[in-house]
Parts: sequence; structure tokens; C-alpha cells
Amino acid sequence: MRLQAIIIKKQRKCVLLSGREVLEVACGSGYWTEVIGEVAKSVLATDIDLSLISIAKSRCKHLSNVRFQIADAYTLNDVPSGFDAALGIWWWSHIPKKCVPIFLSALHSKLESKALVLFVDQLSYDGFVRRQDSDGNILEQRILPDGGSFTIVKNFPTKQDITDYLKNIAYDIRYTEYPDEMSWSVIYRKK
Ligand SMILES: C[S@@+](CC[C@H](N)C(=O)[O-])C[C@H]1O[C@@H](n2cnc3c(N)ncnc32)[C@H](O)[C@@H]1O
Repeated sequence: MRLQAIIIKKQRKCVLLSGREVLEVACGSGYWTEVIGEVAKSVLATDIDLSLISIAKSRCKHLSNVRFQIADAYTLNDVPSGFDAALGIWWWSHIPKKCVPIFLSALHSKLESKALVLFVDQLSYDGFVRRQDSDGNILEQRILPDGGSFTIVKNFPTKQDITDYLKNIAYDIRYTEYPDEMSWSVIYRKK
């Protein structure tokens, strides 16, 4: 995570969000919410998990421009609109392929036209047991310390996949890979 912060700062992505009214999806424990909250005009950070939102709130309690809301990223019900930027870090890979258009449609409905959108996620890595479901999603097995296990969706979209999803709904699309950090980012503007 620390490395990701360096990437974002180095690449001036933080600066890109500076002064903007940012909608963050899947904020988790608020690591990035705090980073972005320090430069943005405001951040509304959302996640589906109340316990993570509570941790994020505590992390960002010194930032009066940061608010939180529980919301499902696929609907963003009750989330206000009019944001001029959006952010989703380590979220895209968990979206089932057929849900990506649903998610992007919900997100874009909350953004002004020309809003800046940033996603960052992981390039493929080794060391996990994986299989594919009938929709072509990669399912990755995660082992718990007590020996139990569970499965998550963990897709690794290519540049082509991402630009295909964004075709017709975005412009100024800039996709970058950071092999040293095993991550990719895409920055674009909503049409
Ligand atoms: C890998 S974590 C990333 C968290 C955070 N962005 C970060 O980088 O630390 C994925 C997050 O997605 C959230 N999540 C899962 N399903 C969701 C949904 N349908 N709507 C909103 N958030 C969801 C989880 O609660 C979790 O916080």
C-alpha cells in the first residue's frame, strides 16, 4: 500500500484530484480516502461494509472535507450527484465481468460531464489457486489463518478490456502499467 501511495504521488494522480469534489467507491478502511482527502476539495467515500467505513471514519477524523456513506457500488442508491472526480482503488478486479457496465453506469450517473475518473488495480501475480467461472471471471481462493478458505472474484483486465468497457462513455483515456509495482491505472474523463 505504501508503494501504491508513492506511485500515485509520483504520477501526480493525487495532484489531478486536487481541489476536486471526489466520489470514492469501495473505500475500505480509508487508506486512499485520507491520501486524497488531503488534497481534494471534498471526498464522499463509500463502501458496502459498515465496519470498514467505521475504520475509515476514524482514520480521516482530522479531515473536515471527508464524508462517508454506506453504498453498494453497483447502484450507488442515495448517493448525491454532481461530482467532478471519482476514484476506485483495488476495486475493479473484484467486479464480475458482466457487472462492469452496470457499475460504470451507476458511477457515471453521479458525475458531471468531463469529470475525471481514476482506477488503480493489480496486474496478475502468482501464488494463488484460481479457476474460471462460466462467465469468464477468475475466482481466487484465499486461505484464512485458521485454515478455512473462501473464494473471491479477482479479474485482471487488459488495456484492451478496459478501453472496450470505456468506449462510448469516456474520452482522454490513459492506461498505464507499473510492472515493478504489479499495478495498472486508468485515468479518463466521463463523456
Ligand atoms: C480490496 S478492498 C479495497 C479497499 C480500498 N479501496 C483500498 O484500496 O484499501 C475492496 C473493497 O470493496 C468493498 N466492496 C465489496 N463489494 C462492494 C460493493 N458491492 N459496493 C461497494 N463496496 C464493495 C469491500 O467492502 C472492500 O472494502
